[in-house]
Amino acid sequence: MSIEVEVLNGSESWPIAEPLFKEVWPPEVVQTLPWAGIVFAHADLRVLVQTEAGEAVCHVGMYRREVTWNGRRMRAGGIGGVLTRENYRRHGHASVALNAAIQTLKHEGSADFALLFCEPQNAPFYMGRGWKPFDGEIYAEQPQGRVRFEAIAPYVYELRRAPRQGTIDLCGLPW
Ligand SMILES: CC(C)(COP(=O)(O)OP(=O)(O)OC[C@H]1O[C@@H](n2cnc3c(N)ncnc32)[C@H](O)[C@@H]1OP(=O)(O)O)[C@@H](O)C(=O)NCCC(=O)NCCS
Repeated sequence: MSIEVEVLNGSESWPIAEPLFKEVWPPEVVQTLPWAGIVFAHADLRVLVQTEAGEAVCHVGMYRREVTWNGRRMRAGGIGGVLTRENYRRHGHASVALNAAIQTLKHEGSADFALLFCEPQNAPFYMGRGWKPFDGEIYAEQPQGRVRFEAIAPYVYELRRAPRQGTIDLCGLPW
């Protein structure tokens, strides 16, 4: 089976990604997850792993965001919506897509660090791929205003310099 990996515009590629999201995270599943009810940003770019037939089997969303760390501006490359169709898991697709996302951020050269949020059961997957826990506080926008974002734990990946403690304000919706 031939598999294609592409980095696409976030809005334009949503129709390709949407069936994968609906399969892995249907509403009845989302409502059981720690991030149920949170409003998330839309991805600026998407890494999509597709079959020859054009079916998305794995997705990694990418976000470009100017954040603040302890009040100082920094540029974060956000990673979110990492998901693989159940019958395609443990074939390395998410690893390849995550690597493509990091390579894209490195190539763009503008982000200081990459930042993602994940549930505890997925932390070993990221930590085995160079991500480190961020031990400080995260703030983000929600429809009701600026809130402390604690539903899922932050992990950073160093591109130039990655904070490990302190306060990061996402200066917008989380991802
Ligand atoms: C988390 C998730 C995205 C991983 O996707 P995946 O495509 O299975 O990821 P990979 O195949 O790259 O890696 C998964 C594991 O399979 C292993 N693996 C990779 N290729 C393999 C192969 N050919 N044979 C056996 N195992 C393999 C990897 O080593 C990895 O294990 P490790 O973390 O102990 O190293 C997937 O389980 C998922 O969609 N979960 C539900 C949604 C979710 O929770 N997403 C995370 C949000 S933060």
